[in-house]
Order: sequence, then C-alpha cells, then structure tokens
Amino acid sequence: MRNLIYADQLSREDLERLCTLADEIRANPKDYARVLDGKIVATIFYEPSTRTRLSFESAILRLGARVISTENASENSSGRKGETVEDTIRTVESYADAIVMRHSDEESSQNAARVASVPIINAGAGKSEHPTQALLDIYTLRNYLGKIDGISVVMLGDLLYGRTTHSLIRLLSLYKDITIYALSDERLELPEEYIELMKERNMKYVKCNSFDDIPHDINVFYQTRIQKERIPDGGADLKTCDLTTEIMKQFSDDSIIMHPLPRNDEISIDLDEDKRAVFFEQAKNGLYARMALLYDILA
Ligand code: NCD
Repeated sequence: MRNLIYADQLSREDLERLCTLADEIRANPKDYARVLDGKIVATIFYEPSTRTRLSFESAILRLGARVISTENASENSSGRKGETVEDTIRTVESYADAIVMRHSDEESSQNAARVASVPIINAGAGKSEHPTQALLDIYTLRNYLGKIDGISVVMLGDLLYGRTTHSLIRLLSLYKDITIYALSDERLELPEEYIELMKERNMKYVKCNSFDDIPHDINVFYQTRIQKERIPDGGADLKTCDLTTEIMKQFSDDSIIMHPLPRNDEISIDLDEDKRAVFFEQAKNGLYARMALLYDILA
C-alpha cells in the first residue's frame, strides 16, 4: 500500500494484517521505537482536529520518525494566500517522506495523491471519507467483539455529514452478514449512495424511527455528533438521538458504545462509567492503528 485515500482501497486481508501489526506494536513498543529512523512525515490539517492529528504525530514520533506540521492550515499555511492544495503538496513533498492531510474538500486527498511523489494519507476529506478512523474502528470492533462477521451496528446522529460512518460502512462491507441500523433526524439520513452500496454488497440496512426499533441484542452503538459546521443553518433544531443511562437500560450488557469523538451532548457523561462505553479506548486504539499504517507504508 502506498497512499490511503479511500476506505475501499483496503481489503479484508489488509485490515487483518494492520490489526495484527497494531497488536504487535502495542505489545512490543521498544521493538518499533526506531523503525522509521531518518524519515520525516508532514501533517497538514485545514480542518480542526485533536485525536487524528495528535495520534498521527505521536505515532510518527513513537516509530522514530520526525514530524513537521501545519495545524490550522487554512489560516496558517499558504492556503490562506490562495495557494491550491496541489501546489502546497508539490512543495511539501520535497520536505517530507509522507504527507497526512485533512481538508474540507471531498476531492482533496485524491487531488494531492495525483501530484505527489510521496505517500498521501487521508485524515478526513469533507463529508465523504475518513479511512484511518474506519481502520481504528475496525481494530476496536475486532478487539472488543472478537469477530466482525455477523455483527449488528446501529449508527446514530449525523449520518449525512458524518464521514466516519461513511468510511466505516465501506470497511464493514468486507465482512459477512453485517446489519446496519440507522437512527437520525430525517434531514441527516444516510445518503442514497451508501444505502445502494449496502444493497450491492449484501449488507442488511434497517432504518429506525426511534430507539424502540433497535433490537435488544444489538452489538454496537456507533454514535456521532451533529456536524454543525457543515450544516448551512447550524442545525440547532435537529434531532440528536442522545444515548443516556435510561435509554441504555433496554439494551444488552454485551453491547459496546463507540463514538469517533469529539462528543457534544449525544452521549451523557454518566454513561462514561458504563462498562459498554469504549470511546476513549477507541481513541487510544487510533495511536496503534496509525502506527501500524505508517509502518506498513513507510518501513
Ligand atoms: C471525526 C471527524 O473529524 O470526522 N473526528 C475524528 O477524526 N475523530 C468526527 C467529528 O468531527 O465529529
């Protein structure tokens, strides 16, 4: 693998290899502390980020590479002066062995990859894709559930603008017998493209109107925040499908609650004590999943 632009570039074998490698790195961090010695990786983020950028940078440093970075690139890079992403990439590729980038434009990473001579990793492109989040989500599912074939996942919140759900559906389609339940405001429903994709790839899709439509023995809650910054009127009046301790009483003790984070109010903080809440562990898994990916691409 050279670039990671779309989730669909990953096969089931790639996921298994990367997840096994992430476990191996986690268990033996010292063995990987110098494997990217001498490499430089650039992170260029045109949209806000905490987990993705810092976990990538931590992963880069923990593998022995060095990092150069533009946080808030739309303000602090030449993007502000009107430079195109392509010109920025043509410049930065002389300074780094790989580029991790996030941008509000859905085509940004593929445009970057077209002109770049170094690997490009998509760390979030508009509302369309977030493949490395989907990778760490698969890693989290595998580690908590032991298997992914046959699971049921309810996706909640913003299924229209939430790119993490879009990339996750693509990766889940590599597994057998997957059911996706969806609960959101009617103005934030999954785009038709993903409903079609699920049909083509033999996934079962069930649209829910309330929590009562979700089966008791559902395996995974995948909660997301409303992407206010992408909604023209800010979306203050949209239904959020909040998870609370009261709501979670009706579901199995064996389920898990995931969230790509950051959260607003869509998971109440008293649920943090619930053993089903795994979202901070999920964020930690991002470090190991990204170490595995960087090692795979750069070593
Ligand atoms: C997500 C994103 O940027 O798409 N955050 C993340 O990378 N963990 C989700 C979000 O912003 O709501």
